[in-house]
Amino acid sequence: MWFKQKTAEGNWQANGYLLAGGHHKYKKIEGIMANRKYIVGNWKMNGLRAQLSNIADIAAIAANHEGVDVGICPPVTLIAAAAQANPGFAIGAQDCHFAESGAHTGCVSAAMLKEAGAGYSIIGHSERRADQQEGDSEVKAKGEALRAAGMGAILCVGETEEERDAGQAIEIVTVQLARSFPAGASADWLTIAYEPVWAIGTGRVPDASDVAEMHAEIRKKLGELMGQGSEAVRILYGGSMNGSNAAELLAVPNVDGGLVGGASLTAAKFGPIIEAAAAA
Ligand code: 13P
Repeated sequence: MWFKQKTAEGNWQANGYLLAGGHHKYKKIEGIMANRKYIVGNWKMNGLRAQLSNIADIAAIAANHEGVDVGICPPVTLIAAAAQANPGFAIGAQDCHFAESGAHTGCVSAAMLKEAGAGYSIIGHSERRADQQEGDSEVKAKGEALRAAGMGAILCVGETEEERDAGQAIEIVTVQLARSFPAGASADWLTIAYEPVWAIGTGRVPDASDVAEMHAEIRKKLGELMGQGSEAVRILYGGSMNGSNAAELLAVPNVDGGLVGGASLTAAKFGPIIEAAAAA
């Protein structure tokens, strides 16, 4: 039973969840309102023009699964061509600079990505935190730059294996989230991705109970950071998600989708993950 009412701030709320606009809708599962599943492919440094047809194939599968939000973040060189060839399909970027413009050789601003056809960008991926020494304050500024440009952000957090072994995973991830959290966050434009560093590209996936525990902690921290509306922020799991383990991962409470690397490069691998999300 849906119970819809207007809050003191004039926003619509249903069953305690703030109703966001645009693509962000809710479906009701066994009496609990769940966020729409969101499956995003991160192509990392993979893909030449010859692989553009893979994006078209993936977009075609996505069009057959209207209950799931699907996107692909190709390398920056393919954003414009991918967006032009697949109107209506959510093309994103893998990173952006926090400044609007200026003397930053080799960097790309949010406005440039938007003009090329990206609607959102990943920020704070652990590969950039490690390889480019990006810190939390820089990641936070990137999120705010995306918001100012009217784009979405997928903010990544995750612990290393050493940190997990030392029993520090929850502390590390929640502190990382708080420190990289952009001002003015709302579910309309912000998504979180929990990506344990040791699960990325390794074929290793945490136990469902560990994923559930971490996503619940992230949900709690979102409540502290933003209060009302935090339930509608989608929290993706990332790290060796594939067609065989997606159904189990996507069934975990507070797992609202996946950020997928290797298994997003072809429709043959990515399609089953989209299907698992549609069935979840
Ligand atoms: P894999 O799916 O290849 O492990 O990569 C996950 C990831 O880093 C997505 O951003």
